[in-house]
Amino acid sequence: MRAVLGVGGGIAAYKAAELVRALQKRGHDVQVVMTRAAQEFVQPLTFAALTGRKVVTGLFSQTGAEDTLSSAVEHIAVAQENDLLVVAPATADLLAKFAYGLADDFLTTLYLAFTGKVVLAPAMNNAMWEHPATRANLEILRQRGCSVVEPDEGWLACGTIGAGRLPDPERIAGTVDSVMRHKKDLTGETILMTAGPTQEALDPVRYISNRSSGKMGYAIAQAAAERGARVVLISGPVSLAAPLGVELVSVRTAQEMRQAVLEHLEESTIIIKTAAVADYYVAHVPQQKLKKTATRLSLELDPTPDILAEIGQRKGDRLLIGFAAETENLLEEARRKMISKRCDMLVGNLVNRDGLGFESDQNEVEIITRSGQTVHAGPSEKKEVAERILDQIATLRLSLRAVDTVDTPA
Ligand SMILES: Cc1cc2nc3c(=O)[nH]c(=O)nc-3n(C[C@H](O)[C@H](O)[C@H](O)COP(=O)(O)O)c2cc1C
Repeated sequence: MRAVLGVGGGIAAYKAAELVRALQKRGHDVQVVMTRAAQEFVQPLTFAALTGRKVVTGLFSQTGAEDTLSSAVEHIAVAQENDLLVVAPATADLLAKFAYGLADDFLTTLYLAFTGKVVLAPAMNNAMWEHPATRANLEILRQRGCSVVEPDEGWLACGTIGAGRLPDPERIAGTVDSVMRHKKDLTGETILMTAGPTQEALDPVRYISNRSSGKMGYAIAQAAAERGARVVLISGPVSLAAPLGVELVSVRTAQEMRQAVLEHLEESTIIIKTAAVADYYVAHVPQQKLKKTATRLSLELDPTPDILAEIGQRKGDRLLIGFAAETENLLEEARRKMISKRCDMLVGNLVNRDGLGFESDQNEVEIITRSGQTVHAGPSEKKEVAERILDQIATLRLSLRAVDTVDTPA
């Protein structure tokens, strides 16, 4: 695979050298393009030595190692010769220029001429990262199909703590791999998904809920849409943007989620239930806010509908995939739930480990099928875990179709 690595003028430009190595290790032939500002941080010679190729440093003048580019209109030639454009670090300035189609240097001109896949790895000071202008520019680029590797949180070069650090080069290279691997193996499927928590009212201003962020479900919804499926995502209250190309239905309570699932059940071919639905609710919610008193307050809770079990009874030949968030005996609990709820596959994860599961961007799961197979995925980014889960679903779908074909007489 031929890849262009665009290096922007950020403090993390030095990490792009490690990214060259990580991409090469994965079999990419890397051509580096540096902005003028990037050259203030790292010498082109570093990249020329690592790649053995000339580093492109400007639209009109070239410096670096031996000339291996032949065309006079190099930005077009580079655009045509490569399958992938990775920009790391993608500065706030580059994001703005890409979003608005400015083309005043080689990298921005190349971006406009490029028709392959684009992966952006932004890195900047956390205030710049959170600025509405940067958020809006990223949204435009995401909508346009660019893949964004979210920056890490931690100590930044400017001495503050926050989001904005360039992720580990291995993680960027991993995202590049999954972007390039993208298949359309879910074309023709309609996937009904649930995600996020539910909120069950205690009074007009209070509710019971849980720590589910919806990130795992949203990652699966996004990845499934990219793999060609029509996706209907029924989501409890989360603070995530609607995944691109996904039909979002917002609900609040377990009852509303059940209703929405039943409304969309008929049209679906696969059902993936990642939502952390409340197990109990208050049947008689007071009209007025509960007052604080000095005495103990007891709440009477009724069980919510078991949506997964109900769908298990009514699913027909649809594939049903459940999720189990456990704090102990993961495999045992996951198997028990898969059988009792009549799921075809169950994805189990432990949610009591730091940095994994609920609220986190990472996850580690066991994917269990009825045939007794167990596949381990992670620990890695939820997007990566989502792809592995969909790989298993697509494989299961294919194997069941193969069985149908064998069983059906001609
Ligand atoms: C020491 C220093 C560090 C910088 N680090 C960053 C950074 O990490 N991210 C960023 O977006 N801009 C950073 N900037 C600002 C960019 O260098 C500046 O916006 C520049 O115009 C970016 O050019 P480019 O996007 O064409 O490479 C930094 C500037 C300086 C002086």
